[in-house]
Amino acid sequence: MRYIKIVIFIFIEFLVLGIIIYLTTPLPVYEVELAKVNLTANKDITEGKKLASAICRSCHYNPELNRLSGIQHGNPKKFGKIYSSNITKDSMYGIGSWTDKELAYFFKTGIKKDGTFIFDMPKYNYLTDEDISSLIAYLRSDDDWVKPVASIKGHTQYSILSKVLLKFYFRPESYIEHIAPIDKSDSVAWGKYLSTVKYSCASCHSFNALTFNNKEPEKSVGYFKGGNPHYDEYNNKVYSASLRPVSKYKQDDFINMVQTGIKNNSTTLRRPMIPFNMLDKDEIKAIFLYLKTLD
Ligand code: HEC
Ligand code: HEC
Repeated sequence: MRYIKIVIFIFIEFLVLGIIIYLTTPLPVYEVELAKVNLTANKDITEGKKLASAICRSCHYNPELNRLSGIQHGNPKKFGKIYSSNITKDSMYGIGSWTDKELAYFFKTGIKKDGTFIFDMPKYNYLTDEDISSLIAYLRSDDDWVKPVASIKGHTQYSILSKVLLKFYFRPESYIEHIAPIDKSDSVAWGKYLSTVKYSCASCHSFNALTFNNKEPEKSVGYFKGGNPHYDEYNNKVYSASLRPVSKYKQDDFINMVQTGIKNNSTTLRRPMIPFNMLDKDEIKAIFLYLKTLD
C-alpha cells in the first residue's frame, strides 16, 4: 500500500514538473547560418517544376486557386490543426520576401528564416546543389502555380503533443554544404538518388518517415518493405506497399504503374501515392534497377 502511494506521489511530482516546464519554456528558436549556403550551381526551371509537382504539390497545391497557396494538411489530428503555407511569389502571404539562401537553408534543415523549426514538412538535406537551385529558380518563375496570390488557408495550431515534441524531441537537420551532381550514366546510383532523396519513394515505402535514416537510407527500419501508415484525402489509413523484392513486377509494368498510378491496368493506387507522370521512363527505370540490387 505504502509502495503504491510513493509511486503515485512520484508520478504526480513528475506531472506537475512537466506541466511547469511545458508552460514556462517557449518553442525553441535556432540560428539561421546563411554563410554556409553557397548556391552557385546550374539551374533548370523544368527540373524544378518536376520536383514541385512530384513533391511539393501534394501538400501545398490549392486546386481552387490553381496555386501552391496552401491547404489544410491531412496529418493525424494528434499533431493539431496544420495548414501548409502559401509558397507563391506573393511577398506578404507567400515567400516573395525570402532570399534564395533562406529558402535553401530551410529546405535542408527545416529552420525558417525567423529561426523556428518546422517538423511537419520533409527535409531535403541531400538534394544536389543543382536540384535545390532548380527548385528555387522554379519558385521564382512565371509558372501559374507560383503567381502571387493573397490567400492564407489557415493558421497552424499545434497540439500539446506537437509542442512537447518540438521542445524535447524534434531537432533540425545540420546543414550539409555541398552535394555533388549524380552521374546519370550510373543507373543504380541515379536510381538510388531519385528514390531515396529526390522523389522520397523510400521514406514513404519504409517502416516510418520518422525513423527514416536520410544519411544512410539503407539502414532505415524496413527499408522499402512498406507498411508505413498514410492517410488518403478522406482521412482513411492507407499502408504503403512493399517494393521488395522488386522482381515481383516486370520492369515495364513497374514503370507503367508508377507513371500512371494504376495497378495491373485496373486498380487505381490511393493517395498519397500519386501518378508520377512528371517522371520520364528513364528515371523510373533507374529506380527499378536500383531496387533490383536490394532483391
Ligand atoms: C508532407 C507535406 C509537405 C510537403 C511534401 C512539402 N511541404 Fe512545405 N510545408 C508543409 C507544411 C505543413 C508547412 C507549414 C507548417 C507549419 O506552419 O507548421 C510548410 C511550410 C513550407 C514553407 C515555409 C513558408 C512559410 O512562410 O512559413 C516553405 C517555403 C515550403 N513549405 C516549401 C515547400 C516546397 C518547395 C516543397 C517541395 C520541395 C514543400 N514545401 C513540400 C508541408 C509540406
Ligand atoms: C507520400 C508517400 C509515397 C511516396 C512519396 C511514394 N509512394 Fe508509392 N505508395 C504509397 C502508398 C501509400 C501506396 C499504396 C497505395 C494503395 O494501396 O492504394 C503506394 C503504392 C506504390 C506502388 C504499388 C505497389 C503495389 O504492388 O501495389 C508502387 C509500385 C509504388 N508505390 C512506387 C513508388 C515509387 C517508385 C515512388 C517514388 C517515385 C513512390 N512510390 C513514392 C506511398 C508513397
